[in-house]
Amino acid sequence: MGRATPFMAMLAVFMAMLAVFMAMLAIIGLSAATATAQGTLNLYCSVQIEWCQAMATNFQRDTGIRVNMTQRGSGETLAAMRAEAQNPRGDVWFGGTGDPHLAAGEENLTQAHESPNRAQLHPWALTQWRQSKQRAVGVYAGAVGFGINTELLARKGLKAPGCWSDLVDPRFKGEIQVANPNSSGTAYVIIATLVQIMGEDPAFAYLRQLHPNVNAYTRSGTAPIKAVARGETGISLSFVHDAVTERNAGFPVAYATPCEGTGYEIGSMSILRGARNLAEARRFYDWALTEAAQRLGFEAGGQLQTPSNKAAPIPPNAPDLSKIRLIEYDFARYGAAAERKRLIERWDRDVGALPR
Ligand code: G6P
Repeated sequence: MGRATPFMAMLAVFMAMLAVFMAMLAIIGLSAATATAQGTLNLYCSVQIEWCQAMATNFQRDTGIRVNMTQRGSGETLAAMRAEAQNPRGDVWFGGTGDPHLAAGEENLTQAHESPNRAQLHPWALTQWRQSKQRAVGVYAGAVGFGINTELLARKGLKAPGCWSDLVDPRFKGEIQVANPNSSGTAYVIIATLVQIMGEDPAFAYLRQLHPNVNAYTRSGTAPIKAVARGETGISLSFVHDAVTERNAGFPVAYATPCEGTGYEIGSMSILRGARNLAEARRFYDWALTEAAQRLGFEAGGQLQTPSNKAAPIPPNAPDLSKIRLIEYDFARYGAAAERKRLIERWDRDVGALPR
């Protein structure tokens, strides 16, 4: 008995360890099987981070597909896709301005997809899809304008701008922020808008004249309106829906849309060429076009773009695009890869390189 007891105890410990080991193996095996069965999706996302996160978690919850999300500006995402073209790391690209999606399609970085949900979309979303040879589809729309910190301007005794021509007034010296078109799709839409309103040479002359009034060219398109909200700058060139988001968050922010007319974006979505998880990418694309998914921008992220699904409600207080003087933005021309590259290079030479 005296010798049997330690042996029995050791045996019991050994059996218990074996049981734990077997259970662990079973769990590992099971989760590996589940992961393969349910899949993974690499999501490139170019809207604001709260919305990107909501898209990832809700899609994962609805489908069981694990989402790895990377949030970057529209121009930055296009640059990453070019760099990764031989070995694509993303599967689907959600959001961001439409021009770089069109350029990506033309450069063969994305692939066509015909969603069964496309009948639910507004005509402008489908125009984008047709124009891109079915490679990019519209997911939202938004107009360019001015974000204004009303308290800051009042304190400085500055009357808010209402027209493009007001912005170059020396009274706004160092008071304006706008993004850099190399990284930001918003900034590119602004440049293309000015070129369409004024003609190319006058537009670049205007941008040079504006330069002394600009205190920073930011990487992200939304950084300027956030700086307006925090009172770091009086005016931003932004999508006006982003100004309302800041006002809804309690900041003293108003917006104006330029009296000469303004441009707009068709925020888009594309599937990457060579996507490793193509079935999951198509599933995400179809899901992102549904009414329920299109509500997430507002419900989870406070975002106020106009959704492309006709049944998705326009969020309360969202800028009404039908009341804004919009130009006939030529997406085919300004979304063309060579034109986009040429205008951004000209901006680098004529404006970005100016001394501060
Ligand atoms: C914000 C806006 C979007 C826009 C995006 C572009 O998220 O709300 O409507 O598409 O910026 O970002 P980017 O950094 O490329 O200018």
